[in-house]
Amino acid sequence: MNLDEILLKAEREHALTRGEIVKLLKTRGEDLKKLYKAADRVRSKYMGDTVYLRGIIEFSNYCKQNCKYCGLRRDNHRLERYRLQPEEIVSMAEKATKLGYKTVVLQSGEDDYYDTDMVEWIIREIKNRMDTAITLCIGEREYEEYKVWREAGADRYLIRHETADPGLYHRLHPGMSLEQRIERLRWLKELGYQVGSGNLIGLPDQDEESISRDILLFKELDLHMVGLGPLVVNPDTPLKDYHNGSVEMALKTIAITRLLLPLAHIPGTTALGSLDPEGRQKALKAGANVVMPNVTRGKYRPLYELYPAKICVDEEPENCRQCIGSIITSLGRVVGTDYGHSPRIEKGEV
Ligand code: 5AD
Ligand code: SF4
Ligand code: FES
Repeated sequence: MNLDEILLKAEREHALTRGEIVKLLKTRGEDLKKLYKAADRVRSKYMGDTVYLRGIIEFSNYCKQNCKYCGLRRDNHRLERYRLQPEEIVSMAEKATKLGYKTVVLQSGEDDYYDTDMVEWIIREIKNRMDTAITLCIGEREYEEYKVWREAGADRYLIRHETADPGLYHRLHPGMSLEQRIERLRWLKELGYQVGSGNLIGLPDQDEESISRDILLFKELDLHMVGLGPLVVNPDTPLKDYHNGSVEMALKTIAITRLLLPLAHIPGTTALGSLDPEGRQKALKAGANVVMPNVTRGKYRPLYELYPAKICVDEEPENCRQCIGSIITSLGRVVGTDYGHSPRIEKGEV
């Protein structure tokens, strides 16, 4: 099949073989524009022109894991660590809802300081006091904990699989396994969360073949949300001598993901915006329909340093809200005013 035929098939059937995905990942020039346009058409047809905003509260930068690319890894002693108290987290959530956010994302490193009850308390308090959806992004925990938090009112859970290559996964994540990661994604699905995963683009030894497996895994896991971005090299990690991931490869991956998962929520991520000032805008024109601005307040923003030169660390949540609003409007799109749940959930599917 030539490129036009592959795109036609993808737009009609939302299914491709691994070989066809690899071919799309290798497109350049005029063909690449066609790929982005096809993804934009599918986004417009299935998700409309609404762009949903999710306000991220980065409540702790402690992490017990040691992922080789990440600045929060436990062996990075150069990072000043912080933890927000439950009351502070709830108060930041309240301020985010006052800015119009209808989803707060509670994000941290893997930090056991926040036990089952504490996280449950935060969820209940937010749900009692304000009208917002809650997304958790706090890593690998036990089934029972996920269950308690779901019952307390958490709506969604994000946990990237990072790479679908088990060997590469193992090399980059000491003490962790891809199998365990995927098991958690299945648990979360079973518990009725809207589930998001995603990968990193530009990991060592990762090629188009490997990324095609990531995309097929998104499809197999039947995700509600897919968030992905380029690797941004952090000088305080073992990957310090490596190079940044390619923005273009991340955009291609977003576009193909949109073709295959037409109803997924896909963000233009902060990492894309950090490597390319137009990165998030480009993503929104290549299949993405979500942006996740930072709503953390005070001195903490620069300390959640997954990678250097992260955008918006010196801004206030008010500035980001306004900035992102104008970006969305200038693209001829509209900011979502409802929760922006998965359209599949709204239709009563899982
Ligand atoms: N560059 C880009 N993304 C990173 N993440 C962690 N470290 C980096 C980095 N150096 C991503 C991981 C993780 C998410 C919270 O941040 O994919 O899942
Ligand atoms: Fe911790 Fe997540 Fe960073 Fe890994 S990627 S070190 S789990 S914060
Ligand atoms: Fe933070 Fe633009 S989104 S300044």
